Amino acid sequence: MAFGCCLGLALLLSVWSTTNCDNIPDGVLHMECRDRFLMIAVDLSFTGNEPHFEAVDGTGVYPITEQYAAECGYTVSVLPLRGQVELRASYFSCHTDNKDDEVFTFNFKLIASHEEKEVTYTLNKTCSPSLPWSPREVTCEENYVEVSVRSDVACPTGTKRDDWDAAVQTSYTSATSDWQVMFQRVEQGLMPMNLSEAHTKGYVFDLTDGRLVFRTPYGQPDSFSTEVNGVLVEVVHATLFSRQSWVVLMVDLVAACSMHEGSYDDNGYMMWETPEVLHPLVSGLYGLQDTQVNIGVDGELVEQPVAEERGYIVEKHSSTVQISIPYNAEGGYRKSFVTDDLYEYYIFHLYLEQLSVDEDHIDTRLRFHRTLATPLLPCPVFTENRTVHEEHVFTIYLGDVPEDVELVAVQLNGHTCTVPFTNTSIHTITKVVHPNNTHGYTLKVPFDDPLVIQQFSKEDAAMQHRLDINYTLSVLPENEPHHHLTSVMALTDVSPPVFDAICSESGISFKLDRRPFDYLWYISIGSDLLTSELAAQHGYIMSNDSQSLLLDVPLYTHGYEYKDISLKGFLGTFEILVRDHETSEVQSSTVKTCSFTTSELIMCSTDGRMTVVADLSLAMPSGGVPARTNLIDKYCGPKEADDTRALFSFPLNSCGSIVKLGKGYVTYENEIFLSRKWRTQKNPTDSSNESDRVIMQCTYPLAGLYRLFSVYRFESDTVGVGSIVHSAHSTEDVQRPTIKPTTVLQSPVPATRRTPRPGYHPPAQHIKVSSYLKKLSKKGAKGSSQIKLNAAIF
Ligand SMILES: *[C@@H]1O[C@H](CO)[C@@H](O)[C@H](O)[C@H]1NC(C)=O
Ligand SMILES: *[C@@H]1O[C@H](CO)[C@@H](O)[C@H](O)[C@H]1NC(C)=O
Ligand SMILES: *[C@@H]1O[C@H](CO)[C@@H](O)[C@H](O)[C@H]1NC(C)=O
Ligand SMILES: *[C@@H]1O[C@H](CO)[C@@H](O)[C@H](O)[C@H]1NC(C)=O
Ligand SMILES: *[C@@H]1O[C@H](CO)[C@@H](O)[C@H](O)[C@H]1NC(C)=O
Ligand SMILES: *[C@@H]1O[C@H](CO)[C@@H](O)[C@H](O)[C@H]1NC(C)=O
Ligand SMILES: *[C@@H]1O[C@H](CO)[C@@H](O)[C@H](O)[C@H]1NC(C)=O
Ligand SMILES: *[C@@H]1O[C@H](CO)[C@@H](O)[C@H](O)[C@H]1NC(C)=O
Repeated sequence: MAFGCCLGLALLLSVWSTTNCDNIPDGVLHMECRDRFLMIAVDLSFTGNEPHFEAVDGTGVYPITEQYAAECGYTVSVLPLRGQVELRASYFSCHTDNKDDEVFTFNFKLIASHEEKEVTYTLNKTCSPSLPWSPREVTCEENYVEVSVRSDVACPTGTKRDDWDAAVQTSYTSATSDWQVMFQRVEQGLMPMNLSEAHTKGYVFDLTDGRLVFRTPYGQPDSFSTEVNGVLVEVVHATLFSRQSWVVLMVDLVAACSMHEGSYDDNGYMMWETPEVLHPLVSGLYGLQDTQVNIGVDGELVEQPVAEERGYIVEKHSSTVQISIPYNAEGGYRKSFVTDDLYEYYIFHLYLEQLSVDEDHIDTRLRFHRTLATPLLPCPVFTENRTVHEEHVFTIYLGDVPEDVELVAVQLNGHTCTVPFTNTSIHTITKVVHPNNTHGYTLKVPFDDPLVIQQFSKEDAAMQHRLDINYTLSVLPENEPHHHLTSVMALTDVSPPVFDAICSESGISFKLDRRPFDYLWYISIGSDLLTSELAAQHGYIMSNDSQSLLLDVPLYTHGYEYKDISLKGFLGTFEILVRDHETSEVQSSTVKTCSFTTSELIMCSTDGRMTVVADLSLAMPSGGVPARTNLIDKYCGPKEADDTRALFSFPLNSCGSIVKLGKGYVTYENEIFLSRKWRTQKNPTDSSNESDRVIMQCTYPLAGLYRLFSVYRFESDTVGVGSIVHSAHSTEDVQRPTIKPTTVLQSPVPATRRTPRPGYHPPAQHIKVSSYLKKLSKKGAKGSSQIKLNAAIF
């Protein structure tokens, strides 16, 4: 159908000069001559956010606006993901100096803003594309379509070339305004217009040295959309004609581009389609045996093996070329995005070349610039509990954090800590970078960190440590926040209670602050459960409320152990045990030792030793020497003595002790005498005066002494009850342990006026008695075997 020819348009170019402006620093500007365009990319960090370009030629300076770019063959894109602004200028763009379609010189001005000040930079570049021009070329840019045909190709087959050259010559010399253009639309009348009118409508026609160029923005009123093999194609069909007396010259120029929007499939591929034959006048009329497709990215074709390696796929399905690019393929760009959740999307700047040959063996080279994008894909971060319980530290790992997302803060149980944590804090966070372009953060918070909620769990009978974490992630560069929540919990065994203890003059005070889980244990003195009854029985003073338990243990009460007895004083030790409720095992104990002083004391140990500190000042006339006193056995003297007191320590049944057997108890008695020598010297007649006697007694229950049968050695279950009787002051008052042994042994010993009677409990080893012996002794204690017992004791 087309019989076309060539036409000439005068393009006036004059010599022009550049004004030198600031230079752009190295590394910020990237300029490259590509096959069919010049690429200029400048880092946004340098240009500011709103850079713009101006095209410069001998006729002036032309700001490249959106509209102007589409008409004149420029494409300007701000690419935040790459951090660049990119200008692509077609070799046939309006203000490019074209020498023989071989050398192209570009001059631009870049207007960048630095701190609100606009600065202009001059950019110039000369390109000589190495790829020869095909007879027919179509570039489907992002914002325009450009068609160029070799001026001699349009001539129909069989036409003599010379004739056409002549015709072109004629038309060129006559007048360009003779040329008219008609846009052919489906089912619409033809409306011829002259070229200047067409230009005002945004169409540009140009004649270079050897090529006729036609360029149009997308979506012009004279364009139409059609479906080819189910793919939407936009077509602009311009017919140029000139009536020159007897001949009409006509040239058909068709711009046709696939307008497929791209799609995203379930397998993670971004897809794009274009028909093999876009339009008969573009790709040839009868379909093609051979359409070659080359694929590329960012305006550069890549070699076939590289494309394969990167997973780019080109397939032909029923005359449709289908391109599939894995969403995360090399060459693409990724960006995180927050709405409610964290998402990501991928962008791929597809560059595609389609080569075909028509029935006249004329090559057509079609090139597409298309941007493919995935929808928002969920991009979840995750947390992992990496706590090693034994370390008693929560370790939580936040993983799969994309490169362009950063942790800015962490809320621990509502307490906000900015990242990085301050030096002093006991909880730490460390960043972990992975080779797969993700990173993670390891958070460590000790179980006993003040920020951790500690609560006793009745169910588990353990302490529950709970940490709610609210991570604040920030998507860069917008600093859009995203929160990720997690919660960790750990159980630890609770520690048994420990008492505070303080010494006083008269005993030891224990204090326990109550905790809600203290019911797990019970408190015992020795093997006896501490109850208010027990306390009353032993003379302990106990107060117990919801806050604390106070136990005052007066000196000489049940449970004390004494040591280092001297005239100066002695050490008293009291132990409180905490036992497990179930097993009765001792879980903890509080042992307190205090030193006490006393003027007098008597201790009757379980291993049968009487230890006495006696005040002899009243028993002796003035000038008496306690060091010279003795017991019933005159060879038993004091171990220690001072001016008024003497300390005796002797086995119960030695030193002339008198044994008195009562009903169920036995009493050992001894007495302190002034030395005969001293007595004779000072007061010989006075020897019979009974009023200065100092009598000491130790009373033991017989039931606790059955061990005598087996080991022939004194050993009592309990300490004996001791008393010191100063008959000088109250002769009638002399204490005889006539009280029932049970009472005597289990209650605090009633004191005579100035005479405390402590029991003494040496660290003697207890020997357990078999139950057989126990029974035996109990029987014996009741009946005639008392005599035998007596015998055994002495
Ligand atoms: C291009 O720019 C450089 C410096 O920016 C200058 O030296 C050179 O002369 C310019 N070339 C042309 C052709 O304007
Ligand atoms: C082109 O056509 C318009 C309107 O039809 C007319 O005004 C204009 O003068 C014409 N231009 C030329 C150069 O013929
Ligand atoms: C913590 O602080 C100390 C002194 O204040 C300093 O020496 C040390 O380098 C700091 N450590 C970190 C990790 O900031
Ligand atoms: C990235 O690598 C880390 C460490 O090998 C791994 O734990 C994580 O799952 C990986 N993430 C993705 C999205 O592949
Ligand atoms: C997490 O922290 C952010 C900012 O501190 C807050 O707005 C948000 O409510 C918190 N989320 C929860 C569940 O506490
Ligand atoms: C986390 O790990 C610890 C220690 O392994 C474990 O006790 C705890 O139950 C785990 N789970 C949670 C949700 O904290
Ligand atoms: C103290 O009182 C609590 C109840 O308030 C009780 O459970 C506990 O057994 C009491 N302790 C003692 C030693 O009596
Ligand atoms: C015995 O001592 C008492 C009191 O010290 C005294 O009253 C009494 O006279 C003395 N007896 C003799 C015989 O000295």
